[in-house]
Amino acid sequence: MLCEEKGCVLKVIPINDAGELLMDEYEKLLSERTKFVSVVHVSNALGTINPVKDIITKAHAVGAKVLIDGAQASSHLTLDVQDLDTDFYVLSAHKLYGPTGMGVLYGKKEILDAMPPYRGGGEMIKEVTFEKTTYNELPYKFEAGTPNIADVVAVKNALDYIGELGKENIAAYENELLQYGTEALGEIDGLRIIGQAKEKVSVISFVVDGIHPQDIGVILDQQGVAVRTGHHCTQPLMKRLGLVGTSRASFAVYNTKEEIDKLVTGIRKVQKMML
Ligand SMILES: Cc1ncc(COP(=O)(O)O)c(C=O)c1O
Repeated sequence: MLCEEKGCVLKVIPINDAGELLMDEYEKLLSERTKFVSVVHVSNALGTINPVKDIITKAHAVGAKVLIDGAQASSHLTLDVQDLDTDFYVLSAHKLYGPTGMGVLYGKKEILDAMPPYRGGGEMIKEVTFEKTTYNELPYKFEAGTPNIADVVAVKNALDYIGELGKENIAAYENELLQYGTEALGEIDGLRIIGQAKEKVSVISFVVDGIHPQDIGVILDQQGVAVRTGHHCTQPLMKRLGLVGTSRASFAVYNTKEEIDKLVTGIRKVQKMML
């Protein structure tokens, strides 16, 4: 959108076949002309955890600002935006077991102070005359209109729930499921796991020889196993990997090894039906 609006040139950090960003290539892309760097903290399609701290440090060295999309990281990883020194960090509440249509935008105070409001409405003004309007302080300047108060309360409850479980405990359990799932799926002939980064969250994307991901999704669904199929809103990534899409199993705190066994049985059944 910025390219269309401002004529920016979009440059893309390439990845290796395991789904990891090529940091040497990233460094080559950076110059004093780089204004903005944006990456996902965790890839929704592959599960790769990107080395965001390093990415931020290198971007800052050339004077660029950084936005990290933490939609997929927030329920899996411990976050410290100050330690990361990121300029912006965004996340979605529904990925934290919270309500839809809600999220968090973190920005450094001095940057947000310098930015104009992007829309008008109740509470975002300090003083209004017909000659001139001054805007309210942060965060009200960016919170035009009566907010969605009920869902903000629900987001807090979701964050408390995760806090009570403990991010470290969540990560430890999900990693156990990831390892179990990686081994179990790895035993299926004709199945290839897409995304083999060393640093990964508990997401397994896979393809099965000769079967379209959509068929896998529908037949697994009939067996009570829910996977996501398709391009996962990452069409350029699918193109880079030469795939039409993948099927993706995401393991969360409420999942069990028995459910992974059910997934494996389900995929074998799909193969029997389709091949
Ligand atoms: C990495 C990433 N960014 C952004 C989004 C979109 O979030 P939202 O639907 O809240 O805009 C998703 C998932 O849908 C995601 O996985």
